[in-house]
Amino acid sequence: GLSLCVSLRYLSSNMIVLVPQAEIDAAVQLLLKLKVDYKQMTGQDYKAGCPPSENLIVSNNGPAADDCDGEDLVDPWNVSASSTKGVDYDKLIVRFGSSKIDKELLERIEKVSGQRAHHFLRRGIFFSHRDMHQILDAYEKHKSFYLYTGRGPSSEAMHVGHLIPFIFTKWLQDVFDIPLVIQMTDDEKYLWKDLTLEECHRFTVENAKDIIACGFDVNKTFIFSDLDYMGASPQFYRNVVKVQKHVTFNQVKGIFGFTDSDCIGKISFPAIQAAPSFSSSFPQIFGGKKDVPCLIPCAIDQDPYFRMTRDVAPRIGLLKPALLHSTFFPALQGAQTKMSASDPNSSIFLTDTPKQIKNKVNKHAFSGGKDTVEEHRKYGGNTEVDVSFLYLTFFLEDDEKLEKIKEDYTSGALLTGELKKILIETLQPMIAQHQERRKQVTDEMVQQFMTPRPLNFKF
Ligand code: TRP
Repeated sequence: GLSLCVSLRYLSSNMIVLVPQAEIDAAVQLLLKLKVDYKQMTGQDYKAGCPPSENLIVSNNGPAADDCDGEDLVDPWNVSASSTKGVDYDKLIVRFGSSKIDKELLERIEKVSGQRAHHFLRRGIFFSHRDMHQILDAYEKHKSFYLYTGRGPSSEAMHVGHLIPFIFTKWLQDVFDIPLVIQMTDDEKYLWKDLTLEECHRFTVENAKDIIACGFDVNKTFIFSDLDYMGASPQFYRNVVKVQKHVTFNQVKGIFGFTDSDCIGKISFPAIQAAPSFSSSFPQIFGGKKDVPCLIPCAIDQDPYFRMTRDVAPRIGLLKPALLHSTFFPALQGAQTKMSASDPNSSIFLTDTPKQIKNKVNKHAFSGGKDTVEEHRKYGGNTEVDVSFLYLTFFLEDDEKLEKIKEDYTSGALLTGELKKILIETLQPMIAQHQERRKQVTDEMVQQFMTPRPLNFKF
């Protein structure tokens, strides 16, 4: 029969749901197992509502990776995996207390949007979420939502990995026909890097051009620089202050690993990344409405900001944002770390020439193939660690082609050089087209995107 129970989802919000007894029993078993895993991983007893922060999300200041003992390190400033296969994303879901994007959710996204799911969803590149079902429930009842994502403009040079959240956000904007705000955290980069305010602001404008080149609809998109918009928008700043009042130093130390010697700008910055999660921060778009739900597509390393945001939201009378999390875009050298703009050989930049792309892939892309052709033909290659193959899962849209490549590489029929050639021929036109579109983006267009104004959408 049916009985009433409180959802047992790990670290989740309090939901009341009706479920059959068998499901409850299974969930209890799972919960018990998760508690054991939790204790093993953290050395702490699980306590509802207390994210496993202190010991797990290691400080960005210290020589972090070596004291985490086979654990993956993932926070907004560091990503490093203990295995060559990269970060164990299933474990991360447990550690962060988010939910897996499962088949059921994929099918719902397709049903509600009326579109086939984006290949980033089909292939598990966006793999985790918080409260996506609630967004879809509301949308089905004709209650709209808005998208929020962002970029820390730390240099002029953006690489292909930086495009992942924007390519996906553009798809979401198209299929749901909803407004989007994009935060350029030039203030954050000023606080964290050795850069001047002017440089950071200039990177905002330059990066905005690459973002605009992804094809966002100017009538539905607002891009803003924190340095400009914070001062110009009283409602935005009010939300920042509300968040600041409700988060203690202890909490941000736990969540972000700040220490006593971090500047106070860093310590209060999370409130600034939280504020765009609330529709009241954008009165020109939402006409003062406080209750337009927000969905944040982002890489999973940004989750600490939004765990904090979701924790504060109800205490300041605002809605918790929902999230869709992506995996990281691996460095050319292997999935153990993500691409970094500061190491030119680890990344394919959006400014690279066809020749540079070819050389980088051939020289630096970590191969899952065997050392000799004979061995490769005999034993086949490993697509799980092969960076060229991993990149194709991001950028080769054709499922059948990708499947065939996987089969052939695994069987040894396809050699590493041939696989690299496929990747090179996928990246070259993609980047050339990006460069072409970016060239079309004028300063006036950037101005237009960055002007606070009403956006074109209905609720
Ligand atoms: N902190 C992010 C970075 O350094 C930028 C950012 C701000 C962001 N708000 C966001 C990213 C929302 C994703 C979603 O890149």
